[in-house]
Amino acid sequence: MPPPGWLLLWLSLVLCSVCAALETAAQANSATDTLNVLLIIVDDLRPSLGCYGEKLVKSPNIDQLASHSLLFQNAFSQQAVCAPSRVSFLTGRRPDTTRLYDFNSYWRVHAGNFSTIPQYFKENGYMTMSVGKVFHPGISSNHSDDSPYSWSFPPYHPSSEKYENTKTCRGQDGELHANLLCPVDVTDVPEGTLPDKQSTEEAIRLLGKMETLTSPFFLAVGYHKPHIPFRYPKEFQKLYPLENITLAPDPHVPDGLPPVAYNPWMDIRRREDVQALNISVPYGPIPVDFQRKIRQSYFASVSYLDSEVGRLLSALDDLHLANRTIIAFTSDHGWALGEHGEWAKYSNFDVTTRVPLMFYVPGRTALLPEPGKKLFPYRDPFDPASESMDPGRQVVDLVELVSLFPTLTGLAGLRVPPRCPIPSFHVEVCREGQNLLKHFRFHDLEEDPYLDGNPRESIAYSQYPRPADSPQWNSDKPSLKDIKIMGYSIRTIDYRYTVWVGFNPNEFLANFSDIHAGELYFVDSDPLQDHNVYNDSQHGGFPQSLMP
Ligand SMILES: *[C@@H]1O[C@H](CO)[C@@H](O)[C@H](O)[C@H]1NC(C)=O
Ligand SMILES: *[C@@H]1O[C@H](CO)[C@@H](O)[C@H](O)[C@H]1NC(C)=O
Ligand SMILES: *[C@@H]1O[C@H](CO)[C@@H](O)[C@H](O)[C@H]1NC(C)=O
Ligand SMILES: *[C@@H]1O[C@H](CO)[C@@H](O)[C@H](O)[C@H]1NC(C)=O
Ligand SMILES: *[C@@H]1O[C@H](CO)[C@@H](O)[C@H](O)[C@H]1NC(C)=O
Ligand SMILES: *[C@@H]1O[C@H](CO)[C@@H](O)[C@H](O)[C@H]1NC(C)=O
Ligand SMILES: *[C@@H]1O[C@H](CO)[C@@H](O)[C@H](O)[C@H]1NC(C)=O
Repeated sequence: MPPPGWLLLWLSLVLCSVCAALETAAQANSATDTLNVLLIIVDDLRPSLGCYGEKLVKSPNIDQLASHSLLFQNAFSQQAVCAPSRVSFLTGRRPDTTRLYDFNSYWRVHAGNFSTIPQYFKENGYMTMSVGKVFHPGISSNHSDDSPYSWSFPPYHPSSEKYENTKTCRGQDGELHANLLCPVDVTDVPEGTLPDKQSTEEAIRLLGKMETLTSPFFLAVGYHKPHIPFRYPKEFQKLYPLENITLAPDPHVPDGLPPVAYNPWMDIRRREDVQALNISVPYGPIPVDFQRKIRQSYFASVSYLDSEVGRLLSALDDLHLANRTIIAFTSDHGWALGEHGEWAKYSNFDVTTRVPLMFYVPGRTALLPEPGKKLFPYRDPFDPASESMDPGRQVVDLVELVSLFPTLTGLAGLRVPPRCPIPSFHVEVCREGQNLLKHFRFHDLEEDPYLDGNPRESIAYSQYPRPADSPQWNSDKPSLKDIKIMGYSIRTIDYRYTVWVGFNPNEFLANFSDIHAGELYFVDSDPLQDHNVYNDSQHGGFPQSLMP
């Protein structure tokens, strides 16, 4: 039964006087006792990083950040595609609440006028700034990155971004192509620079202005790589000799995989170098030497990204901001590098939903840097001495990107938005995720490991829509009107369980009596998720009690 109107009115009066008071308090805070926030969002980055135990990948700067941070080993995005994931974590709501499963609507008009993380910081007296790809461009952020609501001034986009999909990759024939694999000589490309380099420069320029600002700042920096095409400075390729590149441990489409769970990675097929391979649709496979080259270029793009992160953090340090800035680092979702015979995001597997997630909180996850000492000196990925790094503190509990909103507000000392009622379309400020603050309450590294809670109690939800039971041209990215099936997936510390159920896109209703297929993988016996044991289990449908 809905609460009576008088109660709502009373609540809103009481709560609003509290928020007004808090707002004034935050505005009265000076920059010296309020922490700034630097949010780094990477595009399509799975946790193939040194600090996540990936030996091959050279990511010395992100590893250094991890060594001073609290790192979440098991963090998951809510939908493995850019716009829906970004709108979800930036508003703190799941895709079923933002009603964005594709790229084609703006939540404020289509679902509800939900506040965003930067908007909340802005309303609490912060200067909020966006550099690069933070919101997904286009309709999903009203062609304005949600300006003016989220940002204090118009977001910055690197001018060289427009060349990303043009013919700027030198092929073996000496001609320029729109290739998937695109190592470039930076002096040779249009404007003589790349988008992520420009974003780093702009972010550093803005940080320089923040040094003397009296209000705290919230700076979001969205990097483009390793999103395709793999257009990166060619010297990074040298870090990954082809003979050292292995294939995915499970490069074949698994036998027991329901066709609805598979996505045919149409976007990479459209690149000129991949088209020339005449790869069979929908299952491939890609020739193994080309598989190695894709993996090589993905890893090289990650090392290039790492060097940009290194330049940014080193500048933060030089500007004496490292002792009063929270740094959060994450990605919108992962990317399959040949696992299950797939080369993209667009699924519910761990490889596409799992993301890196870490938070550096000055004085909390690391000691404050001593005056004159740098916490984040630039580390050269080409220098072998850059390799090993203390991994820092880690949490194994399952966590979700939708928890970024309450966690960042909590770490910054702002009032944490209340939990959302169900449904919450009419509520502008609330959160569907958890406040992860409890994981930060530690005094030294020797304490009781159970302080982190019981990992068996934590669950991460993800979902993915499909237009049909079998892979077809639009299975990767169906438009809302074409969605017929929704794959709801839960990941616990022990298993991943997915059910693909009928979905009505007009009513936004899933029908859990209409099960099209199911998947069940146990983490211990099948960590890569290749042996679907759903049919061996009692599948009485998705346990409704586990729905978020
Ligand atoms: C939506 O929220 C913004 C920011 O709080 C506010 O300015 C705007 O008036 C709201 N729009 C509607 C239709 O309520
Ligand atoms: C979206 O952008 C258009 C064009 O700038 C603007 O007129 C409209 O008010 C914006 N929508 C919202 C909900 O702010
Ligand atoms: C490539 O592999 C060889 C043999 O394992 C190793 O000695 C070498 O350091 C590797 N090269 C790089 C750049 O990782
Ligand atoms: C599971 O059962 C369904 C329905 O009987 C069948 O279509 C599917 O092939 C089975 N999957 C496996 C992996 O045995
Ligand atoms: C592409 O592959 C198909 C079969 O998979 C074959 O019939 C066709 O001739 C090939 N085209 C080229 C240009 O190699
Ligand atoms: C941060 O470091 C700078 C330079 O060392 C110092 O002036 C400032 O007081 C420090 N701030 C905090 C909060 O420790
Ligand atoms: C849900 O699916 C079941 C089984 O296919 C069907 O009988 C029922 O009519 C569906 N319910 C709705 C509301 O579509």
